[in-house]
Amino acid sequence: MAHMRIGWLLALLPWLVRAQAAPVPSLIREPYLQKVEPTQALVAFRLSTDCVAQVDYGVGDEHRLATSRDSGRIHAVSLTGLAPGTSYRYAIRACGLQSADHALRTAPAPGSRSAHFVAVGDLGTGGGDQRAIAERMRTRQPELFLALGDLAYASGTEAEFQAHFFQPLAPLLSEVPLFTAPGNHEYVTNEAQPYLDNLYLPSGNPQGTERYYAFDWGPVHFVALDSNCALGMASPAHCTAAAQRAWAETDLTASRLPWKVVFFHHPPWSSGTHGSQVTVRRQFGPIFERAGVDLVLSGHDHDYERTRPMRGDVEARPGERGIPYLVVGGGGADLRRFPGATPTWSARRDDTRHAFLEVVVQEGTLTAWAMTPTGEMLDGFVLNKPLPPGPAPSGPTRGVLPSHPIPRRGFQETQGPEGLPAHQRLSTRPGECDGPSPPWP
Ligand SMILES: [Fe+2]
Repeated sequence: MAHMRIGWLLALLPWLVRAQAAPVPSLIREPYLQKVEPTQALVAFRLSTDCVAQVDYGVGDEHRLATSRDSGRIHAVSLTGLAPGTSYRYAIRACGLQSADHALRTAPAPGSRSAHFVAVGDLGTGGGDQRAIAERMRTRQPELFLALGDLAYASGTEAEFQAHFFQPLAPLLSEVPLFTAPGNHEYVTNEAQPYLDNLYLPSGNPQGTERYYAFDWGPVHFVALDSNCALGMASPAHCTAAAQRAWAETDLTASRLPWKVVFFHHPPWSSGTHGSQVTVRRQFGPIFERAGVDLVLSGHDHDYERTRPMRGDVEARPGERGIPYLVVGGGGADLRRFPGATPTWSARRDDTRHAFLEVVVQEGTLTAWAMTPTGEMLDGFVLNKPLPPGPAPSGPTRGVLPSHPIPRRGFQETQGPEGLPAHQRLSTRPGECDGPSPPWP
């Protein structure tokens, strides 16, 4: 009899050892929000051990569960049936792990007339300047974050994405939806394959690639381009300049939203160390002009710079529609001094402070400013356009205090030339924006 009991115990031993040894997984990558739309969102994260994970989410005390399709360590859990413009609490549940609660907010309903976003590039260092920029962006409570490339120095490897992007940006990425464009440093490793492996981005183009894409957020149509592809750095199997250009023209022209913002890494206009990427400008500038693009954001040079309204290879003449091109490359990498004098087309530039761009769109007014980690404002400008009457405004934009929605100090609104077509009353008084004490938090 004793012999039989010992036999049973021996048979159970492997199971008992496994059960005792099975550790509760930890989050080796905190959750980050991807493909956030009005009624759905993706919560991505990584675990230390294999597990079929779940996301517990809801409004207030509500608890809904969404289950991952994966049973390993890499997860991207889709939340569906969400309400537009609504804040949800969410947490990760995985084999005994129960994460802290986080918050996400869905994109506004189509037809809404406000948006609030931040943008910066050249951030992937894992250093203190990057963290300071990210923390300041987080405190502004934007609805979405555009990352303008060079996210993971030096080579965009899997390990560098973890150490130089996801880890330092975790507090921001757990609550602000992320949209990115690839930089040249991402292309160092297998033409940005780790970038594609780590991020979940819209595609929706005929090539089915996530290297370039478009999405709508309230009144803004956003387009992310792969400027590496435009510069011939991608193999044809991954991306061709012609296909991207054709898609961009079709997409930008088709959108009927009142505001169009395009972002990518290499700047068409820059007086920084890399300088203007004329190839990119010549490929896309005419498309942007035909499609009525309002604002173009890039990085690559480690500084801040805004052009006057440009058209073709020159400044727009009075009465002509022009596009302001911005370099927002002060996301954390070491700043680089401008090599020469300020060109006439450069409206405002700064190579002494890290800064990100914050943009509020409200009806027919787009207001933008460049902010340092300590809250100083390097620049500010306003674009105005008449909009046809629409539904009632959708309420105050998230994160901007209704009592003083937009920092006005340093801004000067001027009227554009008579007859300026439905766009572009670009105004600012450069140089007046630098103040030791910012007028907002
Ligand atoms: Fe770059």
